[in-house]
Formats: sequence, structure tokens, C-alpha cells
Amino acid sequence: MLKDVQDRIIKLKRERDVCILAHSYMSEEICEVADFTGDSYALAVKARSVPQSTVLMCGVRFMAETVKLLAPDKRVILSNSDAGCPMAEQFGKDEILQLKKMYPDYAVVAYVNTTTQLKTVADVCVTSSSAVKICKNIPQKNILFIPDINLGSYVKARVPEKNFKLISGGCPTHAKIQKSDVLSAKSAHPDALFLVHPECRAEVVALADYVGSTSGIMDYAVKSDNKQFIIGTENAIVEHLQFRCPDKKFYPLSKDLICHNMKITTLYDVLNCVSGGGEQIIIDEATRIQAVKCIEKMIEYGG
Ligand code: 13P
Ligand code: SF4
Repeated sequence: MLKDVQDRIIKLKRERDVCILAHSYMSEEICEVADFTGDSYALAVKARSVPQSTVLMCGVRFMAETVKLLAPDKRVILSNSDAGCPMAEQFGKDEILQLKKMYPDYAVVAYVNTTTQLKTVADVCVTSSSAVKICKNIPQKNILFIPDINLGSYVKARVPEKNFKLISGGCPTHAKIQKSDVLSAKSAHPDALFLVHPECRAEVVALADYVGSTSGIMDYAVKSDNKQFIIGTENAIVEHLQFRCPDKKFYPLSKDLICHNMKITTLYDVLNCVSGGGEQIIIDEATRIQAVKCIEKMIEYGG
């Protein structure tokens, strides 16, 4: 049954010239029908070079918008209209303009998990895998990092040569993890390495053996000689790793590490989208031209 649906999706995406991009938080059955899977940075870079006329983004809204900003001539479809990212909605453009007035000599460095409107007032975007490198590489010494205070604190500690101002936004899924969750997981699995996403709180990140993006965590676990891992990010990564490395053991840091927005896309949504349905992302050209600048800078400084 599942295989039948996957086969129909693969046939339809070829017939209708659709490229499927899937964020690593998508389920295994969706990743299996995708043309590319990866973290936010890899998907943004990929968006510029896919040959197909339609791109279906299986992820959340800001990811589909990023594709549209970078590839305006493509038809870009979001896998499920209800898939937002609560962090991306936390601050409006006007709040950031106020902050810019208060700190005129600071560059606004925006996590890519932001709306298109907010990107129109940012100087450069970053993702979790590129933030340290980009903050080091940009010429500005003063950085107003928005909106994730946890990723911002992580970057600040690794780029001591710059001055940071942070604001108090963040990912509700990662931020609910406490130090006590790590201590219990470590005591239940004393031989496991602890791999964590930098959207977690500083006291959680401080206990990690490795800190990185979703792709970074997966690469580290695949290459490591260790046999057991506690995974400190969305639990889809536990499932993917268990498929890829059946000889190793992966434990979720918490049963609560579930992003309901990422989970809302089903294989049937993918089928619906490759059949001609789904929400098409529309961005007016004036907004696009202004918002894409910070993403182009991200790719320029991120390499
Ligand atoms: P990545 O940069 O690891 O893809 O993170 C995206 C995200 O939304 C994590 O919560
Ligand atoms: Fe947004 Fe957090 Fe979900 Fe990532 S895990 S999409 S940051 S809510």
C-alpha cells in the first residue's frame, strides 16, 4: 500500500516535471520519494540549480518561501499549507525596524527561520550549519542576531571577536528540552554519545559531544565508530539514522522532541501536490528582490 503510493508519486513527479525537496525532519517514507533531502542550508543552495519547472518543498513555509526567493521562475509548492514554523512568526518587520533604530551600527543577522517580510530588513541570513562561519566572515563587527537566542548564544561563544546583541526568540520544540532530560538520557545510556542541535538551550548544548545542524548530526553519527547515540533534535532524525545504520543504536533525547509543523505533511499530501494540488507560493517581485539579498549574502559568505 505504502509502496503503491510512493510509486505513484515517483511516476507523477517525472511526468509533471516536479523536483521534491524534503527537509530531514520529514518522515522516512517522504524522504524516500524525494530528489534531495538535507538541512535548511543544503536545500536553499539546491533550490538554485534544480532543472525541473516545479519544486515541491516538503518542510515548513519559510523553506518553500526561500526556494521561491531564489528561484522566482519556478512554480514552488508547499507540501501542506498548515506547516508553519512558530519561530519564524515570533517577530514582525516593525519590531525589527525598531531594533535597527536603537542599534544603527549593528548588522541584522537573521536565522533563515524567518518570514519573507522580515528578510526584507535583514542584512544577511544564516542557517544552523552556516551561522558561525557567516558571522565570522561578514565584514561587520556588530551583530544583532534574530530571532533564536539559543543559536545566537551558541554562535556568540564561537565568534568572540564580534559584538552580539541577541533577542529572546527561539524554537518551542528544542527550547523545551532541559538539562535534566539530558542527565536522565545519559544515565539510561551511559555509552551513548550525545549529539544536539544548537536551537537547544545553552545548558543542554554544553553537555553535548557534538553540536550541529540536522545534516551535521546525521553525518557525525554515520561516520562515528561509536555504536550508541542520544539524538538531541526532532525525532525524525532518530528514525532516519536507525534506517541508515542498523548496526548502531539511536535514542531520542526526549519523547517531546516533535515538531508538529514538520509532522503535518503526510505521504498523501505529497501525492496530492505531485497530482497538481497543494499551495503555490506567490511573492510579489518588489518584496522578493529586497528579501533575496540576505539569502544571497548567506550563500556568498557560507560557501
Ligand atoms: P537545520 O538548519 O538543521 O535544517 O534546522 C532547521 C530547523 O528548523 C531546526 O529546527
Ligand atoms: Fe521551526 Fe522548531 Fe519546527 Fe524547526 S523544529 S521548523 S525551528 S518549530
